[in-house]
Amino acid sequence: MRDIAALSVSGQVVLLRADLNVPLDGPEITDDGRIRASLPTIRKLAGTGARVLICAHLGRPKGGSLAERMAGGPSLAPVAARLAELLGQPVPLAQDVVGESAAAVAAGLADGDVALLENVRFEPAETSKDDTERAALAARLAALASLYVGDGFGALHRKHASVYDLPELLPHAAGDLVLAELAVLRRLTGSPDRPYVVVLGGAKPSDKLPVISNLLGVADRLLIGGGMSYTFLAASGYEVGKSLLEADKIDEVRAVMAEAGRRGVQIVLPVDLVGAVEFGPDAEHAVFPVTAFPADRESLDMGPATRALFAGQLADARTVFWNGPVGVFEFPAFSAGTRAVAEAIAAVDGFTVVGGGDSAAAVRRLGIAEDSFSHISTGGGASLEFLEGATLPGVAALETDS
Ligand code: 3PG
Repeated sequence: MRDIAALSVSGQVVLLRADLNVPLDGPEITDDGRIRASLPTIRKLAGTGARVLICAHLGRPKGGSLAERMAGGPSLAPVAARLAELLGQPVPLAQDVVGESAAAVAAGLADGDVALLENVRFEPAETSKDDTERAALAARLAALASLYVGDGFGALHRKHASVYDLPELLPHAAGDLVLAELAVLRRLTGSPDRPYVVVLGGAKPSDKLPVISNLLGVADRLLIGGGMSYTFLAASGYEVGKSLLEADKIDEVRAVMAEAGRRGVQIVLPVDLVGAVEFGPDAEHAVFPVTAFPADRESLDMGPATRALFAGQLADARTVFWNGPVGVFEFPAFSAGTRAVAEAIAAVDGFTVVGGGDSAAAVRRLGIAEDSFSHISTGGGASLEFLEGATLPGVAALETDS
């Protein structure tokens, strides 16, 4: 995979695919981690005289046509404004993706300038399953630039026009963020120092069962918390009340647990839960052991015994990968579990990786110093699919020569 140094970028329009998919509360960006993580490559390109034209997605716009999607949003306008603030230079936003405005913005770039195309997912072809439709959009994007740099790590698992089809049409290289992220993940899939402990949270086991199966071959311990743990607890015969449950995954979860047993990999589940009467920031709640969880409550966090159990399992770790909050950390009353996990990982003397937008946002929101971890990944789905052993479409595209 080539890096930026392999391209002569000075004076050229470089189409930079970045992942600027940040969480929004209305027009407010609630966590700008992905924008900050993209800055070094943007600065490097602009600093060497490139004309930087950024292509990025935001959310999952709805609607069948370009017009419907543009009307429904979300626009990248708040991202352009934040980027301009952080770079200390104007970042004009084209009003479309590959239309007249995009062409005018590209043509107006001087050396060292940075501009942004509108949300690439406004173009329905970006995410199309039809190769011809994606190729047509990729050709229109390619017409705006003479070089391509892929730095949107968080979107590399998507077979999308701007990620997968476009690099084939322009001389291309991987950006520094992508190279750094891949180096970390290769270290995790190679021969990690042991004990290697993986902490998985987040809503659903269905999203993570493939990665768990793969990790059984490499990790020593899997600590499972948050939404997905309730299906594991149910599979182990416990009452989980009204907690999130994927009943149709129980058999698969049982099979994974049996396989872990055969391979000598420890799966550690919560022993107590914070059961609330409803889902809400101020919901009345209490701690229950998993052996006596009430049928009319829903768990929104793990309890103090589990916090201590997980911290103990992390204390001697030499390598840690963490993906997914273990409670509804956005509500302060239910953030203690996620905080305990983050603090226990921060205290580990070894190689520690936080993967995924939600866990990274949790770390920042809970005020835990980012430099207490070896690496905070910008990719959730992308890092999980890499750890599953999948070839990411965007990686394959950047690896081709052209
Ligand atoms: C992410 O948020 O994980 C990436 O930006 C990819 O977004 P997506 O899941 O909507 O494809």
